[in-house]
Amino acid sequence: MKDDTKLIAAGRPHPRHAHPVNTPVERASTILFPTYDDYLEGVKTINYGRLGTSTHRALEEAITALEGGFETRLAPSGLQACTAAILSFVGAGDHVLMTDAAYDPTRKFCENFLKRFNVDTTFYEPTATGEEISALMRPNTKVVFVESPGSLTFEVQDIKAISAAAHEGGAVVIADNTWSGGYFCKPIALGADVSIQAGTKYLAGHADCLIGSITSANEQAAKKIYYGLLQLGSNVSADDAYLTLRGMRTLGPRLRRHEESALDLVKWLSKRSEVASVIHPALKTCPGHTVWKQDFTGASGLFAAVLKPVPLAGLKAFFNALKLFGIGFSWGGFESLCVEVRPEKYRTVTPWKAEGPVIRFHAGLEDTDDLKNDLVNAFTAMGQAVK
Ligand SMILES: Cc1ncc(COP(=O)(O)O)c(C=O)c1O
Repeated sequence: MKDDTKLIAAGRPHPRHAHPVNTPVERASTILFPTYDDYLEGVKTINYGRLGTSTHRALEEAITALEGGFETRLAPSGLQACTAAILSFVGAGDHVLMTDAAYDPTRKFCENFLKRFNVDTTFYEPTATGEEISALMRPNTKVVFVESPGSLTFEVQDIKAISAAAHEGGAVVIADNTWSGGYFCKPIALGADVSIQAGTKYLAGHADCLIGSITSANEQAAKKIYYGLLQLGSNVSADDAYLTLRGMRTLGPRLRRHEESALDLVKWLSKRSEVASVIHPALKTCPGHTVWKQDFTGASGLFAAVLKPVPLAGLKAFFNALKLFGIGFSWGGFESLCVEVRPEKYRTVTPWKAEGPVIRFHAGLEDTDDLKNDLVNAFTAMGQAVK
């Protein structure tokens, strides 16, 4: 089946003589077993609320189908999907290779939390080749983490080459696949052992819930993730699982529209005199563009523009004049957003050298003529503020 069919057919209620189209919200702490035999059977599947009900199982089934994996487990946020996945594979004395373009809280988890447990992290250049990764591997390297493209600076990573190098050295590859929504990129097919998503973004798609998914490529990885989450005591609300599965039904058409609108805005912004450069994986100038062409079937709605240097008063006027673009973190909902980001504050291996401010845009589902008008007003206000 193609993705668009899987997104509709997977994780639906199991056949009964009549049933609703969507798997209903099933909230529970206690699960009751009618008989001792049912109890023995239930212990293997659904047995205690914290481990999920049929609502969670349905969502997991749908994400597994989309990602092309062996099994999916849910986490209460995208960040916990990242941290729990890493924790499931490391112990004291181990070493992690982490992309320098990682989502900042994932990075901080390594720098602060893992360090306290004597797990060392080396950050690596996001466009590293397989050989470069091999050179950084240590005998105790257990995890190579990729985020492709990086969600602030959009370098596309060679997951295939990185996976080969990691496996050669005995490490697993965990990929943050949030940007592609699991629709435009399949890290597991490229060699990753685990593909995680902040389902908060495109899977849920309506900016109203937080959730994470961890999809394992094989049974071995799935067992580690299962026990990792179990022992951390993770739980996801059935309502959020329901909302996410509901959102997934329209993932394909939404993502194609986000893609189209983002590309339209990229083209338009590239011609503005206020803009120094635009960073989007579909542009030849984007680091890793050739990998994107090879490994992705499309692009989502998140990208960045580097403005020419502008005084703070101008930047403030720009943001304050916006009516349609919301100023906010997170992304992947139906609405357009923009926010100033500061890659120079985070990176250590590949210093960020752009002179002007970096604005990260999320192209929502509004008409792009209206979005461009909103930006024209904002650029005009910026110009007036610094005249
Ligand atoms: C690439 C990426 N991964 C993970 C996360 C964390 O997701 P959540 O906000 O659901 O914890 C984010 C959030 O912005 C993100 O952009």
